[in-house]
Amino acid sequence: MMRELTVDLGSRSYPIYIGEGILNDIAALFQKHGIGKGSPLLVVTDEHVAAHFLDRVTGLLSAAGYSVASHVVPAGEPSKSLAMLEQIVATALEAGLDRKSTIIALGGGVVGDLAGFAAASYMRGVRFVQIPTTILAHDSSVGGKVAVNHPLAKNIIGAFHQPEMVLYDTATLLTLPDREVRAGLSEMIKHGLIWDADFTAWCEENADRLVGLDPEALQYGLYKGCSVKAAVVSQDERENDLRAILNLGHTIGHALEAVGGYNELLHGEAIAIGMVGAAKLSVRMGNPEHIYTVTKRIFQKFGLPVSIPPHLDTDEIMRAMMHDKKFNEGQIVYIVPTEIGKVEINKNVSAQWVRDIVDQLKRED
Ligand SMILES: NC(=O)c1ccc[n+]([C@@H]2O[C@H](COP(=O)([O-])OP(=O)(O)OC[C@H]3O[C@@H](n4cnc5c(N)ncnc54)[C@H](O)[C@@H]3O)[C@@H](O)[C@H]2O)c1
Ligand SMILES: [Zn+2]
Repeated sequence: MMRELTVDLGSRSYPIYIGEGILNDIAALFQKHGIGKGSPLLVVTDEHVAAHFLDRVTGLLSAAGYSVASHVVPAGEPSKSLAMLEQIVATALEAGLDRKSTIIALGGGVVGDLAGFAAASYMRGVRFVQIPTTILAHDSSVGGKVAVNHPLAKNIIGAFHQPEMVLYDTATLLTLPDREVRAGLSEMIKHGLIWDADFTAWCEENADRLVGLDPEALQYGLYKGCSVKAAVVSQDERENDLRAILNLGHTIGHALEAVGGYNELLHGEAIAIGMVGAAKLSVRMGNPEHIYTVTKRIFQKFGLPVSIPPHLDTDEIMRAMMHDKKFNEGQIVYIVPTEIGKVEINKNVSAQWVRDIVDQLKRED
């Protein structure tokens, strides 16, 4: 079975296809979306994903008459760099990619952001297709934010560039390491917490099935998660206001990733702790206690961390947060839950309150 939903952005609208085994339909879907055979395609992927799926993707496309080149980058966040972009452009030029070519991102968020930025900038923009292969990428492959990192800041060189389509084959997720599975599910839970109390409850009830990669549960969860992301992005493509709610848990989360040197906590783990922090902040601001107890209980059910590793220094965490663009004159723009399934964008959160929460999160059990 294949589920389909649309990211509604006027002339830039595009479909998300979700289903088990739908990679086999890649050539037919490309044809359906007007991706012609006259210009070469470039598949960008990383070495882990290449080992599992690259030959299959290039094989299916060549068999259908496409001319396909590929570029494999090392796995991991350091590949989101200008140096790697330059290498991809070299491969694209050698393979003869022109303005009508399409770049295909086959992989997780790292490959999606990197290949997406290559597509946004090569010849001032060519088409691109997202083939996410991680659970986290249900978030990163939807919405058109593409970027590479600079040594001084993450995601700082980028663009908005929407894909032609997202082709999400849930069978590709079966080879994901367990820790990546749980970390990716953290963003799925986030989509419930910001938008949909029923979906949040469903995630909690189905924690074991999701962690165990049950196909039906995965398809439904990814469909719902993508739907929330698509709804938010449709209303605010360029993050003027509403789109900021997708940052629930990310203010503390990003700081924890940075202070941990980007190798201690995975993104999904860091934001799980951040979402527990946001729930604590909410209660401190006078909202009902259950917002915190429910939030924490859910992440524990998924085996995600809910406390800050005590050796991470509070001063450093606060400094990392102040470097974050959301911090302004001692106050942070903070996404705070007001109920399970609802959040507000609060512009008056004091840095001292956040500091107290960070300290409490180190003692959380
Ligand atoms: N653009 C956005 O809106 C957005 C949103 C959220 C996150 N992101 C970005 O996403 C990135 C993180 O994405 P990620 O968590 O997917 O990381 P990732 O792309 O590094 O993938 C995680 C690991 O899993 C491996 N892998 C991927 N698919 C696999 C598969 N099917 N089987 C086995 N191994 C597989 C990868 O090689 C890598 O080692 C970050 O750079 C973050 O900034 C972007
Ligand atoms: Zn995130």
